[in-house]
Amino acid sequence: MERRDFVSNIGLTLALVCTAGLAACSKGGSNDPGPTPPGGGNAKLTLNLGSDLTNVGDFRISNGVIIIRTGSGNTASAFTALSSTCTHQGCTVATFNNTSKLIECNAPCGHGSRYTTTGAVNTGPATAALTAYTIKVDGNVLTVS
Ligand code: FES
Repeated sequence: MERRDFVSNIGLTLALVCTAGLAACSKGGSNDPGPTPPGGGNAKLTLNLGSDLTNVGDFRISNGVIIIRTGSGNTASAFTALSSTCTHQGCTVATFNNTSKLIECNAPCGHGSRYTTTGAVNTGPATAALTAYTIKVDGNVLTVS
């Protein structure tokens, strides 16, 4: 193979590799995040208030979030959204107790920590509050981000 042919072949090979690499990273490839969910791309959770969390005390634990209806009406202030990851040892909190108004991290994973609806620690062993998230309500669509 002549030097000119060798250089030409290397150039063609590099062009093919670069083209393939760019195609793999372009929209529509395996890294495509898909359509943007309602409420934007940063949404951790989206609910339809026409059917979800219709009564005060209703709660949902999903996608790393515990969201609780704490009041009436479909406004952001009628809900609280917190991380569902207990700050003690990282278990997912188990439930919201509507009688005590506390979020409970129970056995078998949890060790009995309790949090208020603001995320503050009520009872240890946890010592740090749950992270609070932002809630937006647009009509019947509630979005946590
Ligand atoms: S992990 Fe929640 S109390 Fe220990």
